[in-house]
Formats: sequence, C-alpha cells, structure tokens
Amino acid sequence: MAMNISITRTTNPKPRPADESKLGFAKQFSDHMFLMDYTAGVGWHDARIVPYAPFEMDPATVVLHYAQEIFEGLKAYRTAEDKILLFRPDCNANRMNDSADRLCIPRIDPDFFVEAVRTLVDVDKDWVPHLDGTSLYIRPFIFANDVGLGVHASKHYVFCIITAPSGAYYAEGINPVRIYVEDDYIRAAPGLTGFTKCGGNYAASIKAGELAEEQGFAQVLWLDGIEKKYVEEVGSMNIMFKIDGKIYTAATVGTVLPGVTRRSIIELCKDWGYEVIEGKLAIADIMAAAREGKLEEVFGTGTAAVVSPVKELRWKDETAYISGGKIGPLTQKLYDTLTGIQWGKLPDTKGWTVEV
Ligand code: COI
Repeated sequence: MAMNISITRTTNPKPRPADESKLGFAKQFSDHMFLMDYTAGVGWHDARIVPYAPFEMDPATVVLHYAQEIFEGLKAYRTAEDKILLFRPDCNANRMNDSADRLCIPRIDPDFFVEAVRTLVDVDKDWVPHLDGTSLYIRPFIFANDVGLGVHASKHYVFCIITAPSGAYYAEGINPVRIYVEDDYIRAAPGLTGFTKCGGNYAASIKAGELAEEQGFAQVLWLDGIEKKYVEEVGSMNIMFKIDGKIYTAATVGTVLPGVTRRSIIELCKDWGYEVIEGKLAIADIMAAAREGKLEEVFGTGTAAVVSPVKELRWKDETAYISGGKIGPLTQKLYDTLTGIQWGKLPDTKGWTVEV
C-alpha cells in the first residue's frame, strides 16, 4: 500500500502543557491527527494529516449504535539526545489487523500503519514531552462510518490516529496498586472478542471497574468467562505472578489481549533465566501461594500501564498482600530495563525501538 500522506499544518497551534508533571493520561491532544478513508470497492484512500478537530457525524452512523470499532495504543519517547523513539510499532500494526479481521473491518498494510504513525509523530514532535516518565501516547483507531441501522459490516470506515502527551496511567504512578478479583461480571469467553482491542470490550468492563473503584481498588482482575476460575487480565493491562521463583501469566488463547508489553516482558524474563509459564492459573492457587508465602511479586504490563506493581489482590473475602506493599525486585528490574530501552537510556539489543 504505497500511498502519499498529504500534510495540512494548523495555522492555530494550541499551547502545549506548561507543567509536564501534571499531564495525567491522555487528557490533552496535540495539534494534528491522521485520517484515511475506506470505501468498499475502492479500498483505503485519502491518507492525510490535518489539524486536530471534532468529527461531524450523522446520528445514524453505524459505530454509534453497534460499536464496530477497534483501536491500538503505543507511545513515542523522547531520549536525552532529543531523538524520538517508537516501541515495536509493527506489533501494534499486526495486532490491529487481527482485531480488524474479527470485527469485519478492512486491514491496513502494517508498513503503512507504521509510516502513518511516524509521519504524524514527526509533524507533532514538539508535543513529545521532556520530563522523565512522560511520553506521547498514540491512539490509532478505525470505526464503521456507514449511515443506517441495519446490523452488518459497514462499507465505509475511517482510520484515525490522535496523540496525547501523557504521564502515568494510574494516579499511583509506579506505586503498587490494589486489584479486585471480579467473580460476578466477565470480560470475555471463547469465540468472543477478548483477544481484540475493540471498544466494546472496554464498554462491557466499565461497570465492574466502577464498583471496584468505589471500594478503593485501581482495577479489576478478570477471571475466565466459563468457570470463573482462571485469571485472565486486568482492566488495562496483562498480569503476571511470580510464585516460588517462576513467572506465570495467562496464555493468549482467544480471551486475553496479546499485549506488546506482555511479550516483551516475557522475553526479558526468559533472557534472565526465569521459567515463564503461559497457561491456566487458578485464582485459588494464587491465593494459596500467598498464604504459604510463595506469592513473591505480582505486576501488570501494558503500554499505558508500563510495568505496574500490585500490592493487594482481593478475591471474595480473602486478601493477598504482596511484597509488603512495595515494588518487588524483579518488577523494579523489569520496569527499569523496559523503560531504559524505551527512553534510549539502555542499549536496544533487541531492535525493539524505531526512530521517528
Ligand atoms: C494501552 O495500554 O495502550 C491501552 O490501550 C489500554 C487502554 C485501555 C488505556
């Protein structure tokens, strides 16, 4: 898909955030956005970067009713030498196509996806923040743009990319969070869309997340949708457990999001000699390990969440306290190594970063 990207720069640039320590997560958006249209019979066309602006939409647009939509999340990092790096954007491109297939959305050439991200970030490179731990969060998404209320695959789509200077996803930052193990609502079941990044997955998760937040938990940990027995993932991240020296995480077999951070962390753990077991892990066994003092560390992994330590797991009326409420040594080492590579502080021996 060799296509030119036309660029129309804003004549009215917005003020950039003055205090980068108060960015929060994706609250303000940069000056430009990428757009491309799809028409059945024609394919993807009109790739362009234009000033960031609201969409005008017919109230009967398919996405507003039936949620035929997918998205991705990645970041651009500013190095000490003022280079701008992306982290494994090809993985996001490929995952977006996996989501697209499941949602009957047309695929995008992965090289062109990366090119679109690079071009947009280059246009808005001044929006990549400078402060340690901050980055430009990049949100590519595709939505169905047909007008009409029949339930079927749309013939028109829009691919859009927006970017937002951001700090930590959780208010806690790198401080350990409390997680509620959800045993009422479910997020995914075999045959559904759990492995995709579709808006509908997140819409369905909000209720449980709100109830958990009311009780002071950062997010919920989802169990499998059939037996409610095996751990799957957390609201905005995958999750890993260090038990008796080994690392356990749910296998990505259709109900769990195949996280880019997840696979990078697994690779690092294996490089360092850890045994990593991707499979079924029962919540009852995790709680038992905690009781026996074998649950050494628990951490989430995600683009937004990075590597996020967990200090507490509440399941029914039992609570597991982890690492004495502190960030565990492996969690810290993973965080330092991953962010070191992402911000160009450590050599990228894996070829994971791509310069803009
Ligand atoms: C990300 O980590 O990029 C995500 O997409 C999670 C999001 C729901 C905040």
